[in-house]
Amino acid sequence: MSGLTFAAYLRDATRAHGALPADLIQTLETTADACCQISAALKRGALAGILGQAGSSNIQGEDQKKLDVISNDILLDAHVRGGHLAGMASEEMDDPFPIPEGQAQGRFLLLFDPLDGSSNIDINVSVGTIFSVLEAPAGSDAAEVAPFLQPGTAQVAAGYAVYGPSTQLVLTLGHGVDSFTLDPDSGDFVLTQEGMTIPAETQEFAINMSNQRFWEQPVQHYVGELLAGKTGKRGKDFNMRWVAAMVADVHRILTRGGVFLYPLDTKTFAKGGKLRLMYEANPMSWLVEQAGGAASTGRERILDIAPNGLHQRVPVILGSRAEVERVVDYHREI
Ligand code: AHG
Ligand code: MN
Ligand code: MN
Repeated sequence: MSGLTFAAYLRDATRAHGALPADLIQTLETTADACCQISAALKRGALAGILGQAGSSNIQGEDQKKLDVISNDILLDAHVRGGHLAGMASEEMDDPFPIPEGQAQGRFLLLFDPLDGSSNIDINVSVGTIFSVLEAPAGSDAAEVAPFLQPGTAQVAAGYAVYGPSTQLVLTLGHGVDSFTLDPDSGDFVLTQEGMTIPAETQEFAINMSNQRFWEQPVQHYVGELLAGKTGKRGKDFNMRWVAAMVADVHRILTRGGVFLYPLDTKTFAKGGKLRLMYEANPMSWLVEQAGGAASTGRERILDIAPNGLHQRVPVILGSRAEVERVVDYHREI
């Protein structure tokens, strides 16, 4: 299978779980094409004058970078022309974006974080795009928020593109996780890894340690154990990584294992957490579960959360199953 283009992979007649519907194939191809365009824009960087602030802020009060806005527009334009969506929602838009009248309408809803880790742009470090595909309930109106508020278990497809030394697209359709690398010569994503699995054992964790004084007791306890290393209860040394782009941190965990935490803390308590459920936590949690890992807020499985808003925030603890279960146990016990 390795070496298949993304288009051939999606149309593979021998696929174990049955043929994919044509409109889902188109939705995913259009998303991949948009990621390819975002990758090209990122590569031009300062040459195209697209680094720096856009001079605006999003609904979450975060300053938008030019590339946040450019990436959002690339995804919107591609899918308005694509004709297979009912509507879209994004980190960079306050409200849902229904497909305009006069354009072909479809049955899917696409939620996305057009550029994840955008504080990395100006320092030329990895960033990504995260996406989640849902089916619009029959008779629903994609100008409303309600049809988007489905739990992560309802996702039809989820994935991300990571723009690093190479551009990779990682996808789940609910039957494992496969990874594709963008061939810069042909412009095709090519299947380079099938069945990504998170190793059960890990000695690596990812958390923003500068927030330590704001964490709750269960997370203090867990990270304390990791830091104690060989001489502590865990009996082994742990290494730490933090790219400050969830896509890159999750990509590392899908590749070589580990655990990622953006837990509830006193700084983000009023908002419910830092990361956004609908277009960050849900797609990433499904990918991680599909790769054999686990994803929890510490108190409940992320994919089971009944959403209450497009931009809802949640605590996120995901990665190696044994580590996530340990953190969940501490939330029960401590
Ligand atoms: P975004 O750039 O889409 O707003 O997301 C940034 C997120 C996530 O990617 C990352 O893990 C986290 O914010 C980093 O937060 P800190 O700056 O608090 O470390
Ligand atoms: Mn993000
Ligand atoms: Mn973003």
